[in-house]
Amino acid sequence: MKADVCIIGGGPSGLLLSQLLQLQGIDTIVLEKYSREHVLGRIRAGVLEHGFAELMREAKCGERMDREGENHKGFYIAHDNALDSGGMDHVDLFKYSGGSTVLVYGQTELTRDLYEARDRLGGKVVHNAEDVTPRDLDTDKPYVSYRDGDKVIRVDCQYVIGADGFHGVSRRSIPKDVLREYERVYPFGWLGVLSRTKPVSPELIYCKHERGFALCSLRSQVLSRYYIQVPLEDTTEDWSDDAFWAELKRRVPQAIADGLITGSSIEKSIAPLRSFVAEPMRYGRLFLAGDAAHIVPPTGARGLNSAASDIYYLYHALIDRYKKADDTGLDAYSARALARVWKAQRFSWWMTTLLHRFPNNIPYDDKLQQTELAYLLSSEAAMRSLAENYVGLPF
Ligand code: FAD
Ligand code: PHB
Repeated sequence: MKADVCIIGGGPSGLLLSQLLQLQGIDTIVLEKYSREHVLGRIRAGVLEHGFAELMREAKCGERMDREGENHKGFYIAHDNALDSGGMDHVDLFKYSGGSTVLVYGQTELTRDLYEARDRLGGKVVHNAEDVTPRDLDTDKPYVSYRDGDKVIRVDCQYVIGADGFHGVSRRSIPKDVLREYERVYPFGWLGVLSRTKPVSPELIYCKHERGFALCSLRSQVLSRYYIQVPLEDTTEDWSDDAFWAELKRRVPQAIADGLITGSSIEKSIAPLRSFVAEPMRYGRLFLAGDAAHIVPPTGARGLNSAASDIYYLYHALIDRYKKADDTGLDAYSARALARVWKAQRFSWWMTTLLHRFPNNIPYDDKLQQTELAYLLSSEAAMRSLAENYVGLPF
């Protein structure tokens, strides 16, 4: 098989890039390890920044997102010292970002829209591709092989995009002496529950509590998403639905706990929290994008949004290559992408540090954490910085 660009990974990054490129007449093939149902069964991101939404529109995939997604102008931070304001303070994103909002639209729905758009254009997406292996990346004739049952299939291409997430094969095919990895593993995870219940609040509530962090989020007016911080050793078997709701209620302000509508979980999973960046994001003809190159803890809602800027830079760089034989964008890709990636890392680390309970904190650390939050909530400058990062820095 042949394609201009072979994309490894059929998650949001890979699908979005393939759709954008095909609309420009650049031929792509996407190789995905799992079935479509499996990919669509993952419940992950809920908050999108406008840069991402804009790319979805450019990819002609934005119609349902614009119809069903909810624009949010702010969120709440609940904490012990907000007794005067019902246990929580409001972050006015719209005001402090100078008029921006975020879009609440689930990654599952967005991925479904991308698959449907790929189908409409007759895009090549291979599912259940086993043993995907990028090869000859340091030559100008790279290829990718994969197995379909007993058959080994070869895809000849000009460029390989590694959009295969944190556990994918692409990053691992960069020689160890070329790749530098930066990592922080947090001593806790997020236990997430999706339930077909009315959300407790029209806007998200991030809760800092001495028992640990909690988040009240949503997918729609009838679908809620809640998270609680749990120790790394916990498994979903340790948490019945009843135990989850009881713990969530302990960590949110009383009025929120009183209004919480509980129900059986339709999905329950634990995501360990990790910050990770691999540099460079290019090796020869291989370009890494999204979670394949960088991971953030979900606290700042930056993961998918960081993938979006990678896709934006790659998309424009590949157009310049194919339409103008200009390699400037491809050559600058790694440095440009990483500059924004590190800002998302900083913000996600900061928000995680601000709101979680760290088991190894000394009392001094806890005091600083309280002071950081008090400063944020009392300073317009600090609020502006939070808002500017949360709605998304420019690409
Ligand atoms: P992935 O979604 O991981 O897709 C990679 C694809 O590659 C997968 O389909 C995988 O099956 C496939 N693959 C893997 N290995 C191979 C292989 N060897 N061969 C072929 N294919 C392979 N981000 C936000 O911006 N906002 C949020 O609100 C937010 N909330 C989150 C909440 C949680 C609980 C979690 C866990 C994440 C959240 N994120 C959020 C982050 C976001 O989900 C990820 O950043 C996003 O999924 C990255 O997309 P991707 O396409 O780069 O990688
Ligand atoms: C979600 O709804 O899944 C979600 C929202 C905000 C975050 C993380 C996850 O910061």
